[in-house]
Amino acid sequence: MNPSSALSIDAVQRQLRTRTFGKRILLFQEIDSTNSELLRQAEAGSLPFTSGLAFLPEGGVVLAESQTRGKGRLGRKWISPPGANLYLSLLLRPSDPYFSPFLSLLSAVAVAEAIEATTGISPLIKWPNDLLIPTPAGERKLGGILLELSSPATDPSLHLLIVGFGINVNLPQKDFPPEIASEAFSLCELVGKPVDRNRLAAELLNRMEAWYTRLRSGGPKEREEIRLAWIKRSGTLGRRVRIIRPQQAVTGRAEGITPEGALILRLENGETETFAAADVVHLRPTE
Ligand code: BTN
Repeated sequence: MNPSSALSIDAVQRQLRTRTFGKRILLFQEIDSTNSELLRQAEAGSLPFTSGLAFLPEGGVVLAESQTRGKGRLGRKWISPPGANLYLSLLLRPSDPYFSPFLSLLSAVAVAEAIEATTGISPLIKWPNDLLIPTPAGERKLGGILLELSSPATDPSLHLLIVGFGINVNLPQKDFPPEIASEAFSLCELVGKPVDRNRLAAELLNRMEAWYTRLRSGGPKEREEIRLAWIKRSGTLGRRVRIIRPQQAVTGRAEGITPEGALILRLENGETETFAAADVVHLRPTE
């Protein structure tokens, strides 16, 4: 198969080793945001009188060739040109929203493993779930994950968690829009040829289901396994970082993550502070 070919539900599903993840996929040539579409589909399916086409079960997927309003973390936009990258949203229905921080770590580990299995390249994870590649010009972003939690008005006890993956796959460096060209990187530049997006999507779903099943059926031991797998791939721990907060920025050394997935920072005055959610900048040794 031509690795630069279009996304295809059939090509993804042929490479799945899952029980439920990816068994139902909706593919769009263009959509506002795969996360928004998945949420619309999932909420429609939560109404007692809807079924069939509108209904997406846990493990349901929305894929798109392009997004007109791709969403990034912290209200940023995710630039989503057609035909080259992966924009994939996966529906989870965790029994407890308490799972969310682990799911953030778990998703980063799963996507790093999927990239490794497909291309042999091992990206680093920037806390909580950005994928980075070190280059001579500094670290560049290969991808990111946006988790959105929602409870339908019809049944607030029903938690819907949308996990949206954006991975720069086959967009040549010269085609990145100028506003992100100096920060972003594409897998094809590292591999030296186009990467098969259908295989990457299938590997991502394979790994997501394997980790998610362990988390759901397990306890503290399985959560610790996820934490350790994240630590093994972390590009943040041990680094001097700046935490950007609305009030003020804080600088320190990233020392660890708590069992819940929060980042532990050793501040310059020697004290430690823990951050459940924030934007992190990796500092160079000279900064
Ligand atoms: C980040 O800011 O790093 C997270 C980016 C997440 C982008 C993906 S693309 C597929 C899904 N749909 C969206 O609108 N956003 C996520």
